[in-house]
Amino acid sequence: MRSTQTTAPKNAPAETPFLSDVTELRRRAREHIENGALTPSYLANKEVVLNLLNDALATELVCVLRYRRHYFMARGIHSQAVAEEFLAHSNEEQGHADQIAERIVQLGGEPNFSPDGLTSRSHAEYIEGTTLSDMIRENLVAERIAIDSYRDFIQYLGEKDPTTRRLMESILAVEEEHADDLADLLQGMPDGQSEVRRPPMSKHSND
Ligand SMILES: [Fe+2]
Ligand SMILES: [Fe+2]
Repeated sequence: MRSTQTTAPKNAPAETPFLSDVTELRRRAREHIENGALTPSYLANKEVVLNLLNDALATELVCVLRYRRHYFMARGIHSQAVAEEFLAHSNEEQGHADQIAERIVQLGGEPNFSPDGLTSRSHAEYIEGTTLSDMIRENLVAERIAIDSYRDFIQYLGEKDPTTRRLMESILAVEEEHADDLADLLQGMPDGQSEVRRPPMSKHSND
């Protein structure tokens, strides 16, 4: 009687849940070993990802500097708790910058720490502000810019580079917490509520 079971040919693609068989994986891993973590199955456009990572690095560095400035310049009766928050955020932005720089190197790129052009590479701005409310507001605006730009970056990465995507997702979650902290601080300021709710054009309505 003829058996209904057939023996699958060795390394038949249909029999394996993986895209590549082991022999092929081993062969490919030996090619271009100088690329380190960057293997032929990397699906994103490396140059685009490196540029976007360097933009994110600049954004983080500008945020480190702005928060640092605000930490030292915070004055007034509400300043102590706010200054402590600025310092904590500054340190976390430095951590993000380091994580991003590390990923750039893993991908075979070079992190751009040059102060030349830093503020134009950054998405967020470096605005000093004068009052404590100004500082909180400027930091909140910068966080909101970072949130939107990181969200776009994450969407672009999709499944093409899940490692960079996960990194940016973890950073995005912290930026969202920062924005939330700042919105709370702004509400707690004596002039916070009215300034936050003022329509954007009201300043010039009598011009
Ligand atoms: Fe950050
Ligand atoms: Fe942040």
